[in-house]
Amino acid sequence: MSTPHNKAEQSEIAETVLLPGDPMRAKYIAEKFLTQTQICNDVRGMLGYTGLYRGKRVTVQGTGMGMPSASIYVNELLQFYGVKTLIRVGTCGSILPDIRLKDIIIATAASSDSGINRQRFGDISFAPAADFGLLCRASEFAEKKALRFRCAGVFSSDLFYDDRIKDRIKLLTAYGVAAIDMETCEIYTLAARYHASALSLLTVSDCVPSGERCTTEERQSAFKDMVELALSIL
Ligand code: HPA
Repeated sequence: MSTPHNKAEQSEIAETVLLPGDPMRAKYIAEKFLTQTQICNDVRGMLGYTGLYRGKRVTVQGTGMGMPSASIYVNELLQFYGVKTLIRVGTCGSILPDIRLKDIIIATAASSDSGINRQRFGDISFAPAADFGLLCRASEFAEKKALRFRCAGVFSSDLFYDDRIKDRIKLLTAYGVAAIDMETCEIYTLAARYHASALSLLTVSDCVPSGERCTTEERQSAFKDMVELALSIL
């Protein structure tokens, strides 16, 4: 059995899936962290691999950027492949002033400007939230490893380039929202819908108010810490 966007057989996908946005990051994680790794998907270049991490089967599947793209891959993983645990390993732009480049945001909840949940819920405002167990394990491990991290709400936006960004930052930071990404809200919502557990880990790749950005090398080393964190809580 395969799906329109995933050519893997059901048996080729693990119950636990790491979700980077960038398919090349899926390849990087598979090559650097997993053993007995096999590619299981390459439809549209959205690479997926399954392998072992300390004896545990893990799949890594790219989601693309934005909620419509992530929604397709995550829906198929949950509905057709029976996936139980999803961990996004992505990047975000910080908006709170005391968060620094390369910090890890452990997303407790996700607000959004997306029309997706308006279509799903009408006038109900659903509260997409992280799995409590995964969240606790991630924060404990991050503390133990003395990583620079923050557990906080994020804002999942449909727009990377947003004319209203200054006003939005003012409003969102007043309510303690730490960073912006483009996928977490949909991943948390779908996990709730299909009774799975999800957590979003995000390294701060840029600071939205100042425009400051990580170098490629900084991104890579920060990403490595985050992947270790993700794999260690499985
Ligand atoms: N906005 C949205 N998503 C992002 C950003 C951003 O500034 N940086 C990394 N992912």
